[in-house]
Parts: sequence; structure tokens; C-alpha cells
Amino acid sequence: MDIIRVEGGHLLEGRVAVSGAKNSALKLMAATLLAPGKTTLENVPNISDVHVMGKVLKYMGATIEVLDEHTLCIDTSAVNSWEAPYELVAKMRASTAVMGPLLGRMGKAKIAMPGGCNLGARKIDMHILGLEALGVEFDTDHGYIHADASKGLVGATVTLEFASVGATENLIMAAVKAKGTTVIDNAAREPEIVDLANMLNKMGAQIAGAGTPVVTIEGVDELHPVTHRVVGDRIEAGTFIVAGALMASDAGVEVVGFSPIHLGMVIKKMEDMGIVIDRIEGGVRVHRAERIEPVDIQTLPFPGFPTDMQAQVMVLSSLADGNSIITENIFENRFMFASELVRMGANIRVESHHAMVHGVEGLSGAQVTSPDLRGGAALVVAGLIAEGYTEVSAIHHIDRGYERFVEKLRALGAQVERLTVPDFIDD
Ligand code: UD1
Repeated sequence: MDIIRVEGGHLLEGRVAVSGAKNSALKLMAATLLAPGKTTLENVPNISDVHVMGKVLKYMGATIEVLDEHTLCIDTSAVNSWEAPYELVAKMRASTAVMGPLLGRMGKAKIAMPGGCNLGARKIDMHILGLEALGVEFDTDHGYIHADASKGLVGATVTLEFASVGATENLIMAAVKAKGTTVIDNAAREPEIVDLANMLNKMGAQIAGAGTPVVTIEGVDELHPVTHRVVGDRIEAGTFIVAGALMASDAGVEVVGFSPIHLGMVIKKMEDMGIVIDRIEGGVRVHRAERIEPVDIQTLPFPGFPTDMQAQVMVLSSLADGNSIITENIFENRFMFASELVRMGANIRVESHHAMVHGVEGLSGAQVTSPDLRGGAALVVAGLIAEGYTEVSAIHHIDRGYERFVEKLRALGAQVERLTVPDFIDD
């Protein structure tokens, strides 16, 4: 069993460059299905979710050449299957992002039903309702969703009940090949959606309004392969900014390789907490907080406060001078992290989708378990300031989305290591 062990109390300094965004890279990889031929993706993060998406594409007949650690050449000329099998979808829900592209390319898709995950039920009903409006017929059997667009995809106006990231992306990727105009109303506005639309437009699609609540897509007959660079990972950046706010030396910590405008609400809320964040070329410089003010945060779709930064900022608020309230509006079950942080001495009471965080003087290192991707990273960050040693287990969650997390922290001066320890727990 691998764990990450952190010795708390060491100051951080220097510069960390974030990788390409996981949530963008996965969808861009899926979108290569729409353009038969060789698409080159640059700045692809070397993380396990990307490896799973690579396996999904290969299962369908694509070939992937690794040009260098962060550059993939994906050849989708020979794709001849439209199935995303259970073994892969069970490993990564985002595999469902191939549904829209498969419908656009082949007129059909067979996707294993994703089921629940540790963030709650995470339904895909909005993906299905939206695609039905475009003429797709759905059937389910033996744990699979069968989507059939053999009568042709036809543009339509779709109003999403909630600005779902995944539903917006699947609809865009199907609509680019539909006949006529599709309008997605109440579309999600995340920067990763803009990145996807930018690549699809380079491929010959006609998408207007990505990044706004109304996205309009004129269908085209074909798309062609391109070269595209994945946008920087705002959530990885935010995670390092929190680490710097807790432990930066007097010179501060520089976090680069992303656009601060993609992290606007996080930076604003951290500034409200008294943290000094300077804009620099390609990113920010963060200074250690002398005193942390309590905060009131609600997670919301972009440009609101991202649910993917909720756990990291909870670490900061756990050391604030007063009481903070953190409200999670996007996912159920996203407070499992709080009970791990309590094991490190935090004072947090969770009621329904609210966490009341009463600031404490300090955290103390403990053995804790990653509940999910962001919660796992937040526990490592908490370990940086906790007294003594923190050992974080179940770090496969962290590997899903953070490239070389331990190495990047060590380069900043953190005393952190990845260890393989014997696992005596029967499971
Ligand atoms: C994406 C991100 C994830 C991020 C989330 C919200 C990827 C791979 N993942 O997830 O990191 O936390 O956006 O910013 O890009 N919902 C439904 N029915 C649907 C679709 C969604 O009820 O058809 C619900 C979900 O259960 C969830 C909420 O809507 O409670 C938000 O989901 P969504 O925005 O779709 O997130 P994902 O695309 O799954």
C-alpha cells in the first residue's frame, strides 16, 4: 500500500508550474473521436485518469503515440467500436464523455452505466434528456446505456435544469455534427468547456458562446484533426496556493502555468481571509497568512466558488481566527474529508450540506485516509502545517488528478515522501 508521509512545519519557497487541466484533457481526448486522423494534444497531465481515458480510446480502435511525457498524438482513423466497457467506466466516470463524440462520429454509443461514486449519486439524466432532444434514442440493459442516433442528429434548443459540466460537454460534442442549430441554455461556463470549444472550432466546428450561459452550435459535416494545448489546471494551482498561504517563507511561493482569471472567486475568497496574492507573469505569488480571517463560502458552478477547491479551503478555515461556514451545493457526500481533518485536530460540525468550521490554534499530524481526489490532496496540504507526521493513505485518489504531487511539494522545500508500507488490513 502506498502512502504519503508529511513532516509538518517546513517552510516552502520557490516556484511550482502546474500541469495541464485534468478536466480539460479528458474531454479533449474524447473529442479526438470526432476528427478521424491524428490529433496532437500538448500539455497533457501525466495522471492516472488520463491513462484510463487513453485505454477507453484504444478499446475503440484508436492508437496513441506518446511524443513526450506531456504530448500525445491520438490517431482515431481506425476507430471501429462505439463501446465504453464497464471495467473502464467503473474506474473513471468521466469515461462517459465519449458518448457525445461517438454519437457525432458513428451515430451510436454503448456506455456502461457509471453508477454512484464517493461524491454521491452523480446522475447523467441531463446528458440523456439533452441528447434525446437532438434525436437520440436511449435504451438500457445489462448495466449498459445504448444510445442510437441512426435517424440522424438534429439541432434543437435544450435548457439544462442545472449548469452541468459533463452534460454541456456531451451535448456540444454531439451537436457539432448535428443537422442545423443547437442552442444550449443554462450551459456550464467552466474554463475547460471554453478549451473544448476552442479545440473543436479549430477542427472546423461552429460553436459560439462557450463560457457564457447560452452556447450556440451550427452543425457541420466533418471535423479535421488539429494540434491543441491543454489549458493549465486551475484546481492544481489553487491547491498549491493554499499550501503557500499556510507555509510560504517570506519570499512567498510562485504558482505558474495557469490563468488567475480561472480562479477568480477562489483568489477573492482567500484575499477576504487575509491572504496576500500578487499577480505575476503566468500565475500568482502567494504569501503566508499571518492571521486567517473566517469566511463564508458556497460552492457554485463557474464563475462561483468551485466544489473542487472546497476541501483545500476548509483546511485554511480550520485555522482561522473565528467561525467559518462552508456550504456544498454541487455534490452530496463531499464532506467526508471533514471527518479526516477532525482527526488532525480541526473543529468542524457538518449539518446536511453545511460545514461549520470553528478555527483552532493548530493541527496535529495523524494517520488519515483520502476520501476522494481533492480531499486527499487537501490532507497532504494540511500535513504541511500540522505538528509532527501526517500519513495519508488511499493516495490512488490523488494520483488520479495530481501529477508528481510529492515531487512538486518537495521541490518547494516540503518534507514529504511517498512510501510503500505493508498493508495488514484484511479487505
Ligand atoms: C465535473 C468535473 C468535476 C467537478 C464538477 C463540478 C470532470 C471530469 N469533472 O464533473 O471535477 O467537480 O464538474 O464543477 O470534468 N447532475 C445530475 N444529472 C446530470 C448531470 C449532473 O443530477 O445529468 C448533478 C451531479 O450529480 C452533481 C451536479 O449535477 O451533483 C454537478 O455535476 P456536473 O457539473 O455534471 O459535474 P461533472 O461533469 O460530473
